[in-house]
Amino acid sequence: MTNATTVKLQSGASMPLTGLGLWKVPRDVAADQVYAALKAGYRLLDGAADYANEKECGAGVARAIQEGVVTREELFIVSKLWNTNHAAKHVEPACRKSLADWGLEYFDLYLIHMPIPLAYVDPAVREHPGWTTTGDDSGEIRTERSPIHLTWGAMEACHAQGLAKNIGVSNFCSALIVDLMCYANVHPQVLQIEMHPYFVQQGMIDVCKAYDIHIMAYSSFGPASWVELDHPATKTLPSLLSLDTITQIADAHDATPAQVLLRWATQRGITVIPKSSNPARLKENLDNTSLMLSEEEIRTISGLDKKFRIAGGGDPRINIWA
Ligand SMILES: NC(=O)c1ccc[n+]([C@@H]2O[C@H](COP(=O)([O-])OP(=O)(O)OC[C@H]3O[C@@H](n4cnc5c(N)ncnc54)[C@H](OP(=O)(O)O)[C@@H]3O)[C@@H](O)[C@H]2O)c1
Repeated sequence: MTNATTVKLQSGASMPLTGLGLWKVPRDVAADQVYAALKAGYRLLDGAADYANEKECGAGVARAIQEGVVTREELFIVSKLWNTNHAAKHVEPACRKSLADWGLEYFDLYLIHMPIPLAYVDPAVREHPGWTTTGDDSGEIRTERSPIHLTWGAMEACHAQGLAKNIGVSNFCSALIVDLMCYANVHPQVLQIEMHPYFVQQGMIDVCKAYDIHIMAYSSFGPASWVELDHPATKTLPSLLSLDTITQIADAHDATPAQVLLRWATQRGITVIPKSSNPARLKENLDNTSLMLSEEEIRTISGLDKKFRIAGGGDPRINIWA
């Protein structure tokens, strides 16, 4: 249990326990939203090449620095290597491209976005290929033979050159973590994974604790995190935000259900990165750490576990959760 607002990584770096997620933030509003978040007190930004808004997010950061709202040193900026750049020779160029887009000299944390090696797509052909690896709109997914240990070696080279102060992984299962620990020369600082009361992942928490890897949780609101994508999960399970268990705990603390869901993670030392385009909710989310849940409340929330993963599925050749 912690009442801190930051965490110290194994590397010694200090990272906020609450940050701003940048997925699904449209380009035309990204600069303003990042700027507003920094003004509201956010210091951790979770970006990725695949979110296709790094230039705009960087513009928001530049404005905040220019106006004296923050200094670069006060920020903790995260980016992620997209699946089409897993071949060792593509890792550094991809990292440098993301840095150039952000207008930064280094990332505080650079993650392998997914353990899925897709065929390379030249950025000149398609800057943000997503899952489209043929360079056209056919929707066909092509994989390539890029084993993770070689990708990780190239991530270590980015770290050695000072492009990434810390490196880590996302969407890795425990078997891949155990394997990674067999060859990593630079310690993986963070694992970013889906985590909410319907998907508690206690086993993964235990694995990461054993290896001193910090967990950064995404989709903290469960199905409600996926409303904008109209994901089927939003119809399969009741929203955590209106569930009696959560609303009763929220009422008892004069807090909001969203704050309870975030605090359930941060109080156990897990970082959260909710995205909001709403100024009031931005502040509400950041303020989750002013709340102190009892151990029994945390246990009750964890008891909602349904081992229900929302992210993933799709083409069986890349179904990393099967
Ligand atoms: N590594 C990966 O593969 C991966 C996968 C998914 C996500 N992520 C990262 O994690 C971040 C967050 O996860 P997420 O995108 O799944 O969704 P999320 O940020 O957990 O949820 C976003 C949704 O919740 C709403 N919301 C935000 N604050 C709220 C509040 N206080 N009360 C009620 N509703 C609220 C937002 O609406 P409004 O904007 O209208 O407030 C939006 O519809 C992403 O931005 C991304 O950085 C990483």
